[in-house]
Amino acid sequence: MSTRTFADANEVAQHAARHIADLLTQKPDATLCLASGETPIPTFRALVELAQTGHANLNECTFVGLDEWVGFGPTDEGSCGYYLYRDLFDPLRLRPEQIRYFDAKASDLDRECRKIDQFLTERGGLDLLLVGIGMNGHIALNEPGTPFTNRCHVVELAEMTKTVGQKYFTQPTELSHGITLGLQHLTEAREVILMATGERKRDVIQQAVEGPVTEAFPASIIQQHPNAHVWVDFAV
Ligand code: PGA
Repeated sequence: MSTRTFADANEVAQHAARHIADLLTQKPDATLCLASGETPIPTFRALVELAQTGHANLNECTFVGLDEWVGFGPTDEGSCGYYLYRDLFDPLRLRPEQIRYFDAKASDLDRECRKIDQFLTERGGLDLLLVGIGMNGHIALNEPGTPFTNRCHVVELAEMTKTVGQKYFTQPTELSHGITLGLQHLTEAREVILMATGERKRDVIQQAVEGPVTEAFPASIIQQHPNAHVWVDFAV
């Protein structure tokens, strides 16, 4: 794991977008998984700009969805898919077959999990996983206490996640469960970027990179990954 501090959130985004573009030059058919949430939005915009100016080729890669609120789909404002489509997939004009996303409205969510697990196995795992960090140290919707060995699973959301998650919605929204890739997928990803911007993330990032590696604080798993980058815009 390596840590790098940038001047501001825009610098983090520019660096991350160029990094993804470089990866796609080396491996155009890479399998990518990029988190939604506030943190990666500037990266998405920077990546779209690189693609639109001919500096990134996203025509052959595949995106796998990281997580979703159970009961929500990409057309529901506030869902994880909503922001991914708005800021990344639609501007990039991706073909439908380039996107594999959980159907978090499916009646059989365990089957959804198995489908994504199987897809990732067939693709040989993720080439790049870009994640943010929750205010309780969650990664994707892997809440504190989740085994590091979990693959896709359905999760009961932590109270803090339900509360903080309100920021994505225009009106109070009941959130109870999530469907998410597991931390085993992070372990098996060839490269991981953990990105955090803004002072409010300083303490959780510090705990992730300097605290004990424990399932009680999921983001601490980053310390175990041999090819992980922690990119922040504040001094850790
Ligand atoms: P945020 O979400 O980027 O909106 O802060 C991070 C997370 O909860 O993983």
